[in-house]
This record gives sequence, C-alpha cells and structure tokens, in this order.
Amino acid sequence: MRVLVTGGAGYIGSVTVEALRARGDQVVVVDNLATGHRAAVDPAVTLHEADMRDTARVIDILRTERIEAVVHFAAYSLVGESVSDPGKYMDNNVAGTLSLLQAMRRSGVGRLVFSSTAAVYGEPQRVPIDEDHPIAPTNPYGLTKRFMEQAMECSAAAYDFRFVALRYFNACGAIPTRGEDHDPETHLIPVILQVALGQRPHLSIFGTDYDTPDGTCVRDYIHVADLADAHLRALDRLAASEPSLICNLGNGQGYSVREVLDTCRAVTGRDIACIEGPRRAGDPSRLVADATRARNELGWTPARPDLRTIVEDAWAWHNARPQGY
Ligand code: UFG
Repeated sequence: MRVLVTGGAGYIGSVTVEALRARGDQVVVVDNLATGHRAAVDPAVTLHEADMRDTARVIDILRTERIEAVVHFAAYSLVGESVSDPGKYMDNNVAGTLSLLQAMRRSGVGRLVFSSTAAVYGEPQRVPIDEDHPIAPTNPYGLTKRFMEQAMECSAAAYDFRFVALRYFNACGAIPTRGEDHDPETHLIPVILQVALGQRPHLSIFGTDYDTPDGTCVRDYIHVADLADAHLRALDRLAASEPSLICNLGNGQGYSVREVLDTCRAVTGRDIACIEGPRRAGDPSRLVADATRARNELGWTPARPDLRTIVEDAWAWHNARPQGY
C-alpha cells in the first residue's frame, strides 16, 4: 500500500512509519517540522517539508506519490498551550485537517486513519471510558480533535470517504530507533527519566489529594509500538472496504503517578528526586480506557501492556539519545 503519513517526523508518527516500512508498505512523509525532527525520518523515506494548510501542495503530493491512504498525525498536542493560545490550535489542527480532507477529495484518496485522543471525553463520568461515554472536551486541544472527527464523519456521510479515528490514552515508551523528543517536555515518563539522567533536579508530582488509592492521578499508559500496530490494522480495515470507525486505544489498566515513579526508579536503579506540588489545572483524576471495540473491530491486542516494559523501552531510548534527535 502507498501511504502518506502526515506528522511522520513526530513521536507516534515516526514509530508508525517504521512499522509500515517493516511490513513492506511504501511510505511518504509530510511534516512541516514545527515540532517534528528530520532525523526521525529515515533517509530512505521521502520527506516533504510542507504544511497541511497548503492545499495545493498536499494535492500535488497525493497525486505525484500515487497515495492510496493517509495516516494523519500532524497537529499540535499540548493541552496547556491550547488553553493559553487556542488560535494556534484552531489554525493548525482544524484548518490543517480541513485542507487535508479537501486535498484528498480532489485527489480521489478516500481512506484516512486519524490520530485522536482521550481528551475528547473531558472529565470522566465513569471509568473505564468506552466510546459511548459523553463527549465534553475541557480544553481547546480536545475540542479541535473532536471537531476533526466530526469533519470526517460529515465527509464519510457525503463523499466516497471512510476513516478510522483512534483515541489514544497516554502514549509512551519507544522503539530502539525512535522515541519521545519534545521541547518543552511535559509528559510524565520522559520528565521522570530526565531527572534520572540528571537533566532536571526533580519530578514535581501534580497533586497528591485526588480521590485515588495513593492520592495521585491515574492514567492508562499505552506503548507507542502498540499504537502503531493499531494504525496498521486500521489501514487494513479500510482497504477491506469496512465502514468507518472510532475507537479507544489503551490497556484498560491504570497506574498512578507514584506507581510510574516507582517503576522508573526500579528500571533505572536511580534514586529519582520528587517533590509534591499542587494539582495541575484541568487534570482529571482517572483516565482508563475500555478498548473492547478496538480489540473486536481491529483484532488489536496490546503486546506490551506491562508498565515495566514500557519504562524499560523509554529508558533505553533516553539513554541512547539523552539530548534527543
Ligand atoms: N504529571 C506530574 N508531573 C509532571 C508531569 C505529569 O505529576 O511533571 C502527572 C499529570 O498530572 C498526570 C500524569 O502525570 O496526572 C500524566 O501526565 P501527562 O502530561 O504525561 O499526560 P496527560 O494525562 O496530562 O495527557 C496525555 C496527553 C494528552 C492527552 C491525554 C489523554 O499528553 O495529549 O493524555 O489521556 F489528551
């Protein structure tokens, strides 16, 4: 299959590119390198440095590369930044996706796998969260992702177009050659591992008074390689002419911030300093996926659900590339 991966120079995108190549798909990447890294794309893969909002350019890429399906990661994804600068998210995430949908339609490309998020659910009313849980994003990031899903639903109703939207819970881990490299880094596991590497003085635990077993927030940590596998399965579903689908991707197992910290201490063998701080605005106490639909519809089973494995893989990546790409 000839697949265009938007945002293929980013964290989850670059891991998915490698998974597609490993099974023999022909992959082309488009990335404006705003947050992605050129070095995250193997030189053997064509990288078009382009912005998704440049519709004419995207049409040209889809046509000249004879693309059959698109996997769309390209977006900004920092919750806090989306609150302080919503326009940046509306413009890049929403306008970029509308431009891509238009370009696909005009190029006759009708299959899309979309990188969505558990942030569309907002504050959970019940846990684990299935896809029928009410949609109520509490920040512009989640709002833009939900709008993009709705734009795809409209396109699927009107045009020769089908999509699979994958709502990730907490992406983490690494493969030997690709891993997390954000600036600034805000995600829990890489932040803890930066403390272990001596790059930060301590971890700040954001809140210890939640209604959870140890008072810290609980999240569903899902290995990036398992996420990538779900994208391949979603592409196969669309190639088999099956209908559009929205589904969660998570392990269905929650770990607290303290449990993640303890696992990182055990894996690294280092005494990682932490301080207990106030809650971070907008953090729900518990986010755990019910991913039954992904298991049933995509035949997807996470191969690396164990937190220790996830942290070992992340630690191997951070050790090999302490300064990132
Ligand atoms: N945390 C800390 N200290 C830190 C960083 C994080 O205590 O320095 C805590 C957070 O408060 C949270 C947990 O660790 O309880 C995980 O935080 P992350 O920032 O790693 O991830 P989030 O759960 O906030 O958000 C992630 C993605 C979002 C996505 C969301 C959906 O970054 O894009 O999962 O589950 F929307």
